[in-house]
Amino acid sequence: MPLFEIRGLTKRLDGQLVLDGLDLDIHAGEHLTIIGESGCGKSVLLKHLIGLMRADAGTIAFDGQDVTRFTERQWMDVRRRVGMLFQEGALFDSASVLDNVAYALREQRVMSEAQIRERVAESLAAVDLPGIEHMWPADLSGGMRKRVALARAVAMHPEVVLYDEPTEGLDPINVTRVYRLLGSLRKNLGITTVVVTHHMQSAFEKSERLALIHGGKVVKVGPPEVLRAWDDPRVAPFRRASELTAKTRPSRPSGLPPAT
Ligand SMILES: Nc1ncnc2c1ncn2[C@@H]1O[C@H](COP(=O)(O)OP(=O)(O)O)[C@@H](O)[C@H]1O
Ligand SMILES: [Mg+2]
Repeated sequence: MPLFEIRGLTKRLDGQLVLDGLDLDIHAGEHLTIIGESGCGKSVLLKHLIGLMRADAGTIAFDGQDVTRFTERQWMDVRRRVGMLFQEGALFDSASVLDNVAYALREQRVMSEAQIRERVAESLAAVDLPGIEHMWPADLSGGMRKRVALARAVAMHPEVVLYDEPTEGLDPINVTRVYRLLGSLRKNLGITTVVVTHHMQSAFEKSERLALIHGGKVVKVGPPEVLRAWDDPRVAPFRRASELTAKTRPSRPSGLPPAT
C-alpha cells in the first residue's frame, strides 16, 4: 500500500485549471523527485498533501485513510506525520531560531517545554547547526536559513518530508550540503523524501523515482533511467539539464559500456 495515493486530483485557482486529474503514488521510505516547468502546479500539489489546499475533485489517501475531506482538526494529526519545507523558506523573522524550530512542536501541545528544547537542539545538530537557538533569522546566511527551515521541518520526527525547492537560490556548496542532509535525515530517521527541484543533477542522481508534471497531470513516473530513456519532448529540457551538469564531471573510463 502506498503511503500517499493520489487519484484524479483536480484544482482550479483563479479560474485556471492547475491540477487536472493528477494520479500519483508515493511509497514509504522512497526518495521521489517531482519535476516540471515553473507554474505547472508542483507547490499546489504539495500543499494538498498537508491540507493547506483542498481538492475540487479527486481523492488523497494517506496511510490507507481517505484524508480528502478531513477537517482542520483531523489535518493536525496528519501534519504531525508529514513535514514540509516551504519554497519561500518562511522563517518568522520576528522569532529566534529556537522559537522558529519549536513552532509546530508547541502548536501540537504534546511535549513539555524541556522536551521541546531538547528536540530543537537535536534537530539543529542534525542540520549541522548545533547551539544556534539564540540567533535570529536576520543573523543567518541564506544557506543557514534553509538549514534552520530544514530543522523545523524534521523537528516533529515526521514520517514524510515534502521539500519544495530546498536548494533554490543557494550556492553550489550549500546545494551539496542540503542534499547530503536530506540523504542523512532519510537514512537516520527513515524519512520518506519528496523533493520538488529544478536541480536536475541531484534529481537524477539521488532519487529512486522521478515524476514529471505537465498539463496538470503526472505524465511520466519511474526510476531516473526510465525518464532518461523516455523519448518525449516534455522530458527533454530536464534530461538535457541533467546531462549538461553530468558532463562537467570527470568522464567515465573508456571501454566501459554506457550507463543505463
Ligand atoms: N493561492 C493561489 N491563488 C491563485 N493561484 C495560485 C495560487 N497558488 C498557485 N497559483 C497558480 O497555480 C499555478 C501553479 O502554481 P505553483 O504550484 O506554485 O507552480 P510551481 O509548479 O512553480 O510550484 C500558477 O499558475 C500559480 O499562479
Ligand atoms: Mg513552486
